[in-house]
Amino acid sequence: MKVQILGMGHSLPDRILNNQELEQMVDTSHEWIVERTGILERRIADKDMATSDLCWQAAKIALERSGTEANELDLIIVGTSSPDMLFPSTACIVQDRLGAGKAAAFDVEAGCTGFVYALGIAEKFLLSPEYKKILVIGADLCSRFTDYTDRNTCVLFGDGAGAAVIGKGNSGPGILSTYLGADGSGARHLYMPAGGSALPPSKETLEQRLHFIRMDGNEIFRFATKIVVKVSEKLLTGAGLSYQDVDLFVPHQANLRIIKTAMKRMRIPKEKTLINLDYFGNMSAACIPVGLSMAEEAGKLKNGDLVLMVAFGAGLSYGGILLRWGRD
Ligand code: ACO
Repeated sequence: MKVQILGMGHSLPDRILNNQELEQMVDTSHEWIVERTGILERRIADKDMATSDLCWQAAKIALERSGTEANELDLIIVGTSSPDMLFPSTACIVQDRLGAGKAAAFDVEAGCTGFVYALGIAEKFLLSPEYKKILVIGADLCSRFTDYTDRNTCVLFGDGAGAAVIGKGNSGPGILSTYLGADGSGARHLYMPAGGSALPPSKETLEQRLHFIRMDGNEIFRFATKIVVKVSEKLLTGAGLSYQDVDLFVPHQANLRIIKTAMKRMRIPKEKTLINLDYFGNMSAACIPVGLSMAEEAGKLKNGDLVLMVAFGAGLSYGGILLRWGRD
């Protein structure tokens, strides 16, 4: 039995925030942003939109493409760090809106690794005979927690959602290996100080702008360049494969320089690497599923292609999934 992706979908807000607009907001320049990050523009959700709205739109497409009715779903997992609210889970809100009454539902909080974690967890559920079809979503409205007075972070992030319906196949395509990890000692390098139980919202937390992303970019950069290679090696070695076998490398889209460093170390060429941060920025947990969904739409994925996904993010969390694309 193999766990296969049966269909994918994605949803992006219409509003584009380009580098020229950011030049008016903080002390930055289009040239600096492109040279240091590779990002040209990003999508930003309207004020009246929540993460569940994008999840719902992406999920509807994934359900249709996979030929699945909402009431067939056994489980919904949403990987997000920008849920609609602290509770209930965004997955429960999506479950109700889809009419997926049979499905259990929960969120996974693993920062930008959210989709990879959610997919890895879902795969394990499918090993049980009780679970047949699972909806896995990676979604984030990063703009809600981005400080648009902080040039160190505001140029990086965007909003989006990507969804996959997964199920059981035979011996053909499907997930070959999964690897999830974390290094909690790096939690302080990427976090939102207030709003949780440690520091609930107050007049002071608002005045001190503690409800926004705080990041030590250089620490994350160093961590990312090492971990992407480590995860890739672990996945490929475990499956008895090598970098030359990879047809599509789908890295988390944090910074073009991180992706290029990984490509160089792993000798994976540009044509085999998915890059979409130029037009969408870092959409956190949505980067990988949006990228896969777009690649499929563009006809860049064919049955049997070896796809290597690797993500890292707040936690510090990391993980990857190696799969043969397609279904049987
Ligand atoms: N425009 C102009 N100058 C800037 C900007 C900007 N937008 N941002 C920072 N600078 C300045 C800094 O203030 C600094 O100035 P100084 O030397 O006078 O102090 C200078 O540029 C160099 O700063 P660095 O931080 O060294 O710049 P670097 O080239 O390392 O790029 C960046 C910073 C883009 C943040 C990079 O470190 C990075 O991408 N890190 C990874 C971030 C990441 O992946 N985050 C998401 C993780 S995933 C998740 O879960 C959300």
